[in-house]
Amino acid sequence: MLYQEFNARRDRRKFMQQVATGAVGLVSMAAWNRTLWAADDSRLFVHSKAPMNAEPLLPDLVKSWVTPVESFFIRSHGNTPILGGSSFRLTVEGLVDQPLTLSLAELNQLSQIELSATLTCAGNRRSEHSRIKTVKGVQWREGAIGNAQWRGVRLSDILKRAGLRDAAKHVWFEGLDAVEDGGKTFAFGGSIPLEKALLDRDTAPGAMLATMMNDKPLTADHGFPLRSIVPGYIGARSVKWLSKIVVSDRPSPNHFVADVYKLVDEGSLLEVAENAPIYRMPLNSAICTVAAKSERIEVTGYALPPGVPGVSIRKVEVSADDGQSWTEAKLTSPAAEFCWQLWSADISLKSTTRELIVRATDSRGETQPQMPRWNAKGYLFNGWHRVSLKV
Ligand code: MTE
Repeated sequence: MLYQEFNARRDRRKFMQQVATGAVGLVSMAAWNRTLWAADDSRLFVHSKAPMNAEPLLPDLVKSWVTPVESFFIRSHGNTPILGGSSFRLTVEGLVDQPLTLSLAELNQLSQIELSATLTCAGNRRSEHSRIKTVKGVQWREGAIGNAQWRGVRLSDILKRAGLRDAAKHVWFEGLDAVEDGGKTFAFGGSIPLEKALLDRDTAPGAMLATMMNDKPLTADHGFPLRSIVPGYIGARSVKWLSKIVVSDRPSPNHFVADVYKLVDEGSLLEVAENAPIYRMPLNSAICTVAAKSERIEVTGYALPPGVPGVSIRKVEVSADDGQSWTEAKLTSPAAEFCWQLWSADISLKSTTRELIVRATDSRGETQPQMPRWNAKGYLFNGWHRVSLKV
């Protein structure tokens, strides 16, 4: 029974008893549990196995600030390549004085850094765009996001070692996977402006090349043996199975830079050609658990600052009356640049409560839109997150 139906004839005391026994929860989670798949030892909802695309259940997602690998979403456009570490080489070429070829052992000998950074797919929450008008692609819910501890080398160190030519403006990344699209097979690629690659600050490097995730070598699905990590940018720029870096005077012509990860209204060839690639991740938040706590309800979730240097989460608010009034949530996790924050809020339900809503505001004072503009590829959905309550 939906909460709405129940709400019409409920008696408040009985409702709270049901909350206490766990009979009330989120509609969406109940639906999910019925279709839960397990990928090896992970508890991930698998959208597709080949290529692997999977996301965690929301209660698993917010158990800790650092997301365990088993609960970390996987987004791959081609099948996962199984690579050997000893034969692996990274090449650096293009507008550099000295092209490089580096083995894993050579990369590991360079100065290492550790970084907490949240990775989120541009398609996170795409299913909510599809509720307005169907969008093709993986119908991600709110779980295409995770926060990990990455270890590896600064991209700028590698670029300085190779020596940048004056005309250098963009850094391309190329993976070792084989993506099939439109009758062609090619590697996934990403690209970032050189300014971002070189923007090393105390709080975060502009970008890094990671070999470790949460103190262990990257798993095959997350890019073993090497991937780029670009803090603050959409996940598509953090290229897995990274084997080639090209320094250029223009953005990469790779399909995933030139055509795919762009905001377009209808997706005509002209629109795609005219629009710039997406780089930064958007301000976002989601409700992940709802539980009874005496006469009140405890709600928890995540909030993501936008990928703008120096901008953090100022506040997270939850509403039980369709946005007429808001309760400020408590931020319960560390605050680090380009990282999500976890939050919890104690909410008392009103007799009219049908759903809960969350929205986040960043340190510039910008708040998530109630509803973002629909776009044909279903990217960057960051409207107020709503969950219906059910019995
Ligand atoms: N790198 C390669 N080589 N191939 C891919 O398909 N997917 C990208 C990015 N890097 C991808 C890739 C996208 S769209 C995202 S959101 C992130 O990887 C997801 O990283 P994860 O699977 O480790 O969570």
